[in-house]
Amino acid sequence: MDRANPVARHCSSQPLWLLAELTYRCPLHCAFCYNPLDFAQLDDELDTATWLDVITQARELGAAQIGFSGGEPLLRDDLETLVEHARRLGFYTNLITSGVGLNETRIEALKRAGLDHIQLSFQDSSREMNDFLSSTRTFELKQRVAKLIKAHGYPMVLNCVLHRYNLPHVAQIIDMAIEMGAEYLELANTQYYGWAMLNRAQLMPTHEQLVEAEATVNRYREQHGNRCRILFVVPDYFESRPKACMNGWGSVFLGVGADGAALPCHAARLLPGLALPNVRDATLASIWHESAAFNAFRGDTWMREPCRSCDERHHDHGGCRCQAYLLTGDAAAADPVCAKSSAHGEIEKAVEFARAPMRERDVQPIVFRSRSESLRLASAAGHIAGAED
Ligand code: FES
Repeated sequence: MDRANPVARHCSSQPLWLLAELTYRCPLHCAFCYNPLDFAQLDDELDTATWLDVITQARELGAAQIGFSGGEPLLRDDLETLVEHARRLGFYTNLITSGVGLNETRIEALKRAGLDHIQLSFQDSSREMNDFLSSTRTFELKQRVAKLIKAHGYPMVLNCVLHRYNLPHVAQIIDMAIEMGAEYLELANTQYYGWAMLNRAQLMPTHEQLVEAEATVNRYREQHGNRCRILFVVPDYFESRPKACMNGWGSVFLGVGADGAALPCHAARLLPGLALPNVRDATLASIWHESAAFNAFRGDTWMREPCRSCDERHHDHGGCRCQAYLLTGDAAAADPVCAKSSAHGEIEKAVEFARAPMRERDVQPIVFRSRSESLRLASAAGHIAGAED
């Protein structure tokens, strides 16, 4: 890498948020994981020295927040070293974890390293459903970790991904969060990428489930005020305008995968023909400003109709490129969530399908994220690609 050469800047933006996906290894097997289906093939993880350099470069570019994520970031022994480095450079540091591996020794070390924030995921309020959805026995462990987080003076930030199976338990999930002393509870409805897309027919809720869950959230907000701030993220399949995904491509978000791939969004690997640069080969500055991948959907010159002439294009940036590709086969198409998209019927079909009684829905069994499933899927995709060639 040659950092002495000034880069020709193609954009004036800077990344604000660095997501460091330290590893794709994970003790959990969540059916809604957003990691790539072929994660098992991405096991050539960056070493500590390269991550330290990536963090330094991101800070030089202007990034202010860093999320340590995965997989399960606690599986990396150098997590504390990376947190300390990021903190020393002035980053606000977040750990996004399942809690597995967070014990007294490690939380003390992370505290000493200056970690600012921990976000702990739960799958449900009941042991049965939590353990079913993650295909592990981790419910009690997560409860112990929640107490540990609180005991070390961190704000209690819980996250629970919602879908058909746990939406009816929203009241119990909120009760659990309040009982644990959570200051924040993020109830994020599943977004359909990666493993969640594979399991969409199983996970998609009904409209009635969502309406009821949102009413429950509002009731709790009225009762409890700001004691526990509840964020309820509605799934965009139920909207008629798309989300401003990543706040616009190449605008504020910079992800770096365990294998060093630089990612304009979490799911960018699924877009065919997008040559993702790697931090082993190029500086973050050149990746951010000059790479074809980060410029592919930046701004609005790539847009076609109906986005190109739409008044809302500067607000929603055309929606999500990955969703557009997954549902239309064209990453430059309008996000089909938008009612103006000619492919909006695909969204309506998926929502309609969820309304049918279980017996009428020919649904494949849930595929849980695992190394062996990942290898199987990667090999099947290879065979399909081979057959098409
Ligand atoms: Fe890739 Fe939305 S997840 S652009």
